Amino acid sequence: MGKKVYIKTYGCQMNVYDSGRMLDILKPRGFEPVASADGADLVILNTCHIREKASEKVYSDIGRIRRAEKPAAGTPVIAVAGCVGQAEGAEIMRRAPSVELVFGPQTYHRLPDFLKTVERQRAAGKRARVFDGDFPVEEKFDQLPKIHQAAGASAFLTIQEGCDKFCTFCVVPYTRGAEFSRPVDAIESEAQELAAMGVCDITLLGQNVSGYHGAGEKGDAFGLGALIRRLAEIPGLERIRYTTSHPRDMDDDLIAVHTEVPQCMPYLHLPVQSGSDRILAEMNRGHSADQYRDFIGRLRSARPDIALSSDFIVGFPGESDDDFQATMQLVRDIGFSQAYSFKYSPRPGTPAAERKDQIPDSVRSERLAELQAELNRQQLEFNMAAVGRTMPVLLDRPGNRPGQLVGRSPYMQAVHVGFPGAGNMEEPTHPDIDAAARSPYSDRIGRLMMVEIMSAGPNSLEGRPADHFSETAA
Ligand code: SAH
Ligand code: SF4
Ligand code: F3S
Repeated sequence: MGKKVYIKTYGCQMNVYDSGRMLDILKPRGFEPVASADGADLVILNTCHIREKASEKVYSDIGRIRRAEKPAAGTPVIAVAGCVGQAEGAEIMRRAPSVELVFGPQTYHRLPDFLKTVERQRAAGKRARVFDGDFPVEEKFDQLPKIHQAAGASAFLTIQEGCDKFCTFCVVPYTRGAEFSRPVDAIESEAQELAAMGVCDITLLGQNVSGYHGAGEKGDAFGLGALIRRLAEIPGLERIRYTTSHPRDMDDDLIAVHTEVPQCMPYLHLPVQSGSDRILAEMNRGHSADQYRDFIGRLRSARPDIALSSDFIVGFPGESDDDFQATMQLVRDIGFSQAYSFKYSPRPGTPAAERKDQIPDSVRSERLAELQAELNRQQLEFNMAAVGRTMPVLLDRPGNRPGQLVGRSPYMQAVHVGFPGAGNMEEPTHPDIDAAARSPYSDRIGRLMMVEIMSAGPNSLEGRPADHFSETAA
């Protein structure tokens, strides 16, 4: 009988990619993925350490799995992978005796060996205790099997890992290790495999993809712009995005790619964190607020419709009201289509966590609310501006209403597409199944469709197929 694995993914898209690669390793070894820890033989928590809340969640999840265990079904192996595994491996071993396996983001290619060791220790009648916090010299990507199966029309592809920037608030350089760019041919063949599986939309991933400097076939270094140009030649890849970028590494070639390469989507997530030069310097970000404004100005001249997203931290140690207002001013000056904003969270081992001038939580909360009100206003305004326009939408799943499909605009907005004659607007009993069955267009999932946007809300757009209406209007 096959074995069951449940993988829970926390944190960023790189963890989503890593969880997929762990499945690629496990499937040929007889593991089938399941949707809950209940009855699973192996539970992998692929964790995130970026903020305190994220890493504390892991311990409560471990407790929950333990309590739900059915001894008759055998005790599942609980594994903690990812950035908490890397940063707090020894502590997990101490605090959570039910966890039998801990490893970080750079060693999951060793999963088959880990599982053998666990089996051996269990066979000897002990609960296993395996911990690997290594940053190995061998190349993880060289050891990984081929992609097993694409999950849909959109896929992530990690092109770069780790970080050498050491922003003073951030754990990533300690959890993912030093910056490393995968070679161009490895990325290209992975993208070709994905395209052959029907993927038409890829997002190139890394902590700092704008600093990508992978080796080409002749040993020459490729920048991100050159890599995107190369990938755009792969037949079937219609949409290319990249994330996350760092303002310090953005160059003119990337701006040129946004105008010259049609597959390069008009959307950029470019974290700025703060609009105060003093705070930016104390964060060690390596640029000023005006340098950010200047870059965005040049990008917008080259690609006027580009949608911009960002990350913000409020309440970094020593942040004054004036510093915070400088962030608000930057937000008003730029205008974002969406953004992520966080209260500063002191992380063990980072320089900012040692500072004596921490900002009280009440102040951090107030600033976050003020910032989010403005960002939400901008997001709604951006969505409203789409009403009346017709744009290509990549349909990726059935919606909750009869006949409805959900997809993404070029600007990363979720778009709900309704169809004429698809039934009334009552909620179906089994939303996904019924809705897909009733859509006259369900065979279009995974493909692009021209959609006329009819209305907009804070988090999504509503539209109807433009081609259908032009056909029937005649
Ligand atoms: N490599 C990316 C960001 C990776 S972490 C970059 O350089 O921009 C994702 C986001 O989490 C960051 O952009 C930051 O906004 C937030 N973040 C990181 N550390 C944090 C901390 N200690 N407290 C609060 N937010 C944090
Ligand atoms: Fe963290 Fe800064 Fe590196 Fe981004 S650039 S991962 S915020 S250290
Ligand atoms: Fe979290 Fe690690 Fe990603 S800390 S944000 S999962 S790199």
